[in-house]
Amino acid sequence: MNTIIVGTQWGDEGKGKIIDILSDRADYIVRFQGGSNAGHTVVVGGREYIFHLIPSGILHRGKICCIGNGVVVDPAVLIKEIKDLSSSNININRRLKISSLAHIILPYHKILDQLREIKRTNKIGTTNRGIGPCYADKISRCGIRIIDLLDRGVFRDKLKDNLREKNEILKKVYGHRGFQFKEIYKEYLNYARVLSPYICNTQLLINEAIDNKKDILFEGAQGTFLDIDFGTYPFVTSSSATAGGACIGTGVSPVKIDKVVGVAKVYTTRVGEGPFPVEFPPVFAKYMRNKGNEFGATTGRPRRCGWFDAVMVREAILLNGISELAITKLDILDGLKTIKVCIAYKYKGKLFKEFPYGLEMLEKVKPVYKEIAGWDKTIGKIRRYRDLPLNAKAYLSLLGDILDAKIALISVGSSREDTILA
Ligand code: IMP
Ligand code: MG
Repeated sequence: MNTIIVGTQWGDEGKGKIIDILSDRADYIVRFQGGSNAGHTVVVGGREYIFHLIPSGILHRGKICCIGNGVVVDPAVLIKEIKDLSSSNININRRLKISSLAHIILPYHKILDQLREIKRTNKIGTTNRGIGPCYADKISRCGIRIIDLLDRGVFRDKLKDNLREKNEILKKVYGHRGFQFKEIYKEYLNYARVLSPYICNTQLLINEAIDNKKDILFEGAQGTFLDIDFGTYPFVTSSSATAGGACIGTGVSPVKIDKVVGVAKVYTTRVGEGPFPVEFPPVFAKYMRNKGNEFGATTGRPRRCGWFDAVMVREAILLNGISELAITKLDILDGLKTIKVCIAYKYKGKLFKEFPYGLEMLEKVKPVYKEIAGWDKTIGKIRRYRDLPLNAKAYLSLLGDILDAKIALISVGSSREDTILA
């Protein structure tokens, strides 16, 4: 079974935990897009692990974890993750595979990311990890790939070419000092040396695994509404975070995909700027942020919080072909008197059930809510659906009805065990 997991909101839906759980049944876990802007939190045995690049499945012994060609790799971040795992006695030898076709993030990408943000009037609120500029270079065909790092001559020429252009942009457009060729060249050749045992043709590896009837889990980062095409552009990331990205970002044909699982949190969060129709008023936002520990795993920024937006999640189900949902953080709703679900938007007196792509409109729509009674029990220790409070079950079945999707898994806490299979 080849399964893609995607976020149905703006990221931080709890994909890390769900991937960790589903990894149990998979042989290969593959990241297909994004880079170290992602922060996947997994709690195992009371210990918290945060992954930016290595697939969250790495905590399962014997599983092969791949970083696909669609990912942009910051070698320093990756090496740190490799070291952290070895110091936690997690053996990754022969288990971590990095695509030779993945593009690498260079120091000028990070600086350009920051400088562009400063200059923009409409700020995106990026993670400043160099993601946008790196993907921009990939598309404009001047990027440097991992395979280039393995050949000193090729790397030298490509880096020189890039620095000639980037240094001029830095100086003339941003009044920023340029970069020295020698420093980057030396630093990155060192990275290449450390990473070389893991680098391979992952498209071949994964396709052969599929031919051998292995189970592959494709791990999405970010979420549907951060997707470069279908997200709330320009307040998006620079890659395809929707299911289609899994094929492009790994070299696996769409006909080989069996299933897409969507992860949805029972409320909505977003980090960075951009429209957010269901956003809570400030005091309640602060209360829920602390209750749900909604602070960025990568940047530590407080996440903006709001009610569950079924208009968005319905759109995500359509765009990704989601047949099963994993619903996360149900326990964070414990103790609320009433819970709201946005079922439509109102704009200029008219009702809309479809997600509007015009940003102007999305900024002005008024959410139409369905209200339902909450529960006062704490549910974090519950392991069977039938043991949930009546109102929690009513809430879940309301979501299932509105979304017209099967809820396959419910998460009631951060640990692996805090999970109900529906
Ligand atoms: P970038 O990906 O760093 O360019 O950031 C673009 C937008 O995507 C910003 O609003 C970020 O906060 C958001 N973003 C990027 N990665 C993640 C993530 O993993 N979770 C949540 N938001 C993210
Ligand atoms: Mg995250």
